[in-house]
Amino acid sequence: MAKVNVLLPRIAILQQQLQARALWRQRQLTEPVPGCTRLVQRNGQQLIDFAGNDYLGLARHPQVIAAQQRALQHYGCGSTASPLVSGYSDAHAQLEQQLCALSGHEAALLLPSGYAGNSALLKTLFSASDTVIADKLIHASMIDALRDRQVTLKRFAHNDLSRAEQLLANAPGSALVTESVFSMDGDSAPLVELAALCQRFDSPLIVDDAHGFLLSDSLAVTPFARIVTFGKALGGQGAAILGSRQLIDYLVASAREYIYSTALAPAACAGVSQALQLAASGQLQQQLANNIQYFRQECEMLGVTLMPSLSAIQPLILGDSNRVLQVATNLAQQGFLVGAIRPPTVPQGQGRLRLTLSAVHQPHQLATLAMALAECCHGA
Ligand SMILES: Cc1ncc(COP(=O)(O)O)c(C=O)c1O
Repeated sequence: MAKVNVLLPRIAILQQQLQARALWRQRQLTEPVPGCTRLVQRNGQQLIDFAGNDYLGLARHPQVIAAQQRALQHYGCGSTASPLVSGYSDAHAQLEQQLCALSGHEAALLLPSGYAGNSALLKTLFSASDTVIADKLIHASMIDALRDRQVTLKRFAHNDLSRAEQLLANAPGSALVTESVFSMDGDSAPLVELAALCQRFDSPLIVDDAHGFLLSDSLAVTPFARIVTFGKALGGQGAAILGSRQLIDYLVASAREYIYSTALAPAACAGVSQALQLAASGQLQQQLANNIQYFRQECEMLGVTLMPSLSAIQPLILGDSNRVLQVATNLAQQGFLVGAIRPPTVPQGQGRLRLTLSAVHQPHQLATLAMALAECCHGA
């Protein structure tokens, strides 16, 4: 008699539960449309991409692609080993130096993703005897790392400075963790005030700058540690932890995610280096800021109430998960690809469309999305 795999019935039940709550998630093939930075193809249909995080339009920039191609020729496809063995090259060192020069941090180390970066930093620094204070909305990668290490996690209501102050007063010296720009709300943390509080209570500040690096004033503070991801505004892949030389040297010697994993591909580093150069003039950021302002104006004129975000992330709360899916499907039929964000990514009842704007969206693309949103909202 064939053996029954005991995991399969369990998976089937869990699948049914997720489906019943409209939380079953599936991937869909999404292909670029050649020559069009912000157009993609799904199920044979062309869509304007308002779901990706390529805020500055660098993911398909010819100079970024050329820089990666040159690095591929020189270094090959992969780093072939972990950084401490033989996977640490000039491409890594140069990108680290570039990031330090830009941010004012002393040292950096690179990892294959932001998830791994947050994991490496927090799991290496903290253990069950520590208390960490964090904004209620910090990213899953940080929560997972802290839970994994059984850290006592004290969370303050989103961006609530007085609650953060209370928690710091009760546990002075404890690290405080926040994002610069919040991934699902698009608003910013009061970093200057948080840094002042942390200084008062001798607490290290840790900032996940995934969505704010080069796009916000997050560099106004120099936290104890900053996580920068390359998969968003820089259009690439990977991440960096930035901090003091002492912190980074310690992580190099101790972070399991760094030591026991193949180093980021050198060609990926070269692409990010080029993307940083292209972002240096601030021109792309200005184009993005113009697009954000124009889109919000169009929405306001048409009675579409977006969350109060000044960043590239423009969420529209719809509430119920089924409604989120229904509106996202409707928009796809009209040619717009948007993020349909549901619990557990956001709290229950706060399902939303996550609309991401880019420097390379054209005004008519923004205007037609605003009109389609107005129809969906008013037709409800
Ligand atoms: C705030 C935040 N931190 C970290 C990450 C993880 O970054 P990566 O996609 O490079 O793993 C993300 C991406 O989803 C994020 O939004």
